[in-house]
Amino acid sequence: MCGIVGYIGKKCDLKKDLINDLKTLEYRGYDSSGIAIYDGNMKIVKTKGKIENLEASLKNVDIANSQLGIAHTRWATHGEANDINSHPHRVGCVTLVHNGIIENYVELKEKLIKKGYHFVSDTDTEVITALLDDIKKSEEDNVKAINKMTLELEGSYALGIIFDDDYDHLYAIRKDSPLIVGICNGCNLIASDVTAIIEHTKKYMLINDYEIVKLSKDKVEIFDRNLKNVKKDILEVSWDINQAKKNGFSHFMLKEIHDEPTVLKDTISEYIKDVNTLINKMPDLSKYNKIHIVACGSAMHAGLVGKSVIEEYANIPVTVELASEYRYKKNFYDKKTLVIFISQSGETADTIAALRNVKKDKIDTLAIVNVVGSTIAREADRVLYIRAGVEIAVATTKAYMLQVAMLILIALNIAYVNKSMNEEEVSKVLKEFKKIPKFVNEIILREKECFEIAKEISSQEDVFFLGRGVDYALSMEGSLKLKEISYIHSEAYPAGELKHGTISLIEDGTVVIGIMSKDKLAPKLLSNVKETLARGAKILIIMTEDLDMDFDFDCHKFVINKVNDILQPILIVVPLQLIAFEVARQRGCDIDKPRNLAKSVTVE
Ligand code: AGP
Ligand code: GLU
Repeated sequence: MCGIVGYIGKKCDLKKDLINDLKTLEYRGYDSSGIAIYDGNMKIVKTKGKIENLEASLKNVDIANSQLGIAHTRWATHGEANDINSHPHRVGCVTLVHNGIIENYVELKEKLIKKGYHFVSDTDTEVITALLDDIKKSEEDNVKAINKMTLELEGSYALGIIFDDDYDHLYAIRKDSPLIVGICNGCNLIASDVTAIIEHTKKYMLINDYEIVKLSKDKVEIFDRNLKNVKKDILEVSWDINQAKKNGFSHFMLKEIHDEPTVLKDTISEYIKDVNTLINKMPDLSKYNKIHIVACGSAMHAGLVGKSVIEEYANIPVTVELASEYRYKKNFYDKKTLVIFISQSGETADTIAALRNVKKDKIDTLAIVNVVGSTIAREADRVLYIRAGVEIAVATTKAYMLQVAMLILIALNIAYVNKSMNEEEVSKVLKEFKKIPKFVNEIILREKECFEIAKEISSQEDVFFLGRGVDYALSMEGSLKLKEISYIHSEAYPAGELKHGTISLIEDGTVVIGIMSKDKLAPKLLSNVKETLARGAKILIIMTEDLDMDFDFDCHKFVINKVNDILQPILIVVPLQLIAFEVARQRGCDIDKPRNLAKSVTVE
């Protein structure tokens, strides 16, 4: 989802800096980009497509030394991706960039047209710009004008704003879409996330909804809705710029898979010393007799794995819900229900909205989040951070694995406090947990084997993943990972369900990937796989070593270490990710930035 960056202050080459920082936001996903710089004149250049197109256009634009600029990568929601719809937009005395969706832009546009405004783009953003210009006609103070604008806007926005009557300040405001302020000597910044400021400063402030930012080169002012000054803590980015670089890997996704042993250790180590640590390091979960897990995409798939292990080991019912559905439907919870929100970015619009609904009903909430200080992390009652570090590739890998690991820790915690598991049983698992990063690394070292398997898949147009129980939950993520980066159509199916219709799609050469990790269910899975084999399918089985045997049919096998059942999902994740990566590589896809996708979906 789009990215915003803005500067005010001393810069040797503001154009180059703004472009470089837009590039650090590319991972968020975009289809066009643009820049506005004031160098005595307001110069705006914006183009469809990659930032390279913008750079090429900028070559013909002479920009003198400048101290003020804003830039934007757009993920189109209102109006196709083209030059005119790209940001920044300029109307009258206002130049502006926007991340989000204005839901009442049509009625606002009609009102403004009646006032004589003409619109050149199809965007909701141009309407914001015209609205602010119109308000400025009767409001001299820019902070007050922005505040008045918020009273008329419905929807989500993070805005970077330059007013023609004040080139000594850069303004910004957010509601629902992410925004931070970067603090450095001689210049201050706004950005969608810390990745865009890390080359200039590690010091930043988090901005809350409706807070208005007014930056000069050496002063930061934040105002609340009552126009009172807000004091903000200055935070420090916990990772360095190298983490946001590929460090020799061909793709961020491959680097991030290779990060998994380290970040898994970083995440679990504070909990697995012993049972007391596990209990004391987490919120008290003993009072809950029901859990809802709410998330989107891969985070929801992690929730499905969480459901499986929490129900099996902690004996309490778990429902997993898509945030985009949960936010609108009737939900059944009470004071003994815990609603867990999972989000890597902490900025997913549907998940934020669902969280806010649950909080309005005064139901306890817990977030599992990667980005420190993100909206979901700040607004949930409690937060458990995974320590994945920055995840640049749009397709999540290490963060998904750590979400699964955190849910396993929650299952162990609840199992102990509600006496479903005794101290000895939990201790045994925690002891084995310590070895899991090593086992993950050993599987990653077998990437060549995964790459060989990928050869069988890369020319396919349809792939089916089958699993039972927790293996079905894992197959959901395996399927999404494959389709989102290789563009191969793929489906995950409960193995026992395929014959109730979808098996009609199996034909000669269709690839079927079975996941098998539970001895009780293994014979069932194998018989389901053989039903597809009988119809011409090519089979791959990802299984644990205890289930390995000479099958009476031809298939590719990927055999992994057998560990405690509750920990097994973490190991199964690795081949699923490596195979998807290699298939996409063999198909020449843009693995780190797949078409149409965004790293953080900050719009509905
Ligand atoms: C990325 O691989 C996923 N495909 C995507 O579905 C993601 O998991 C989803 O958008 C939720 O993002 P979040 O974890 O940042 O909330
Ligand atoms: N809704 C705005 C547009 O379509 C902003 C989209 C975005 O967040 O990039 O231009």
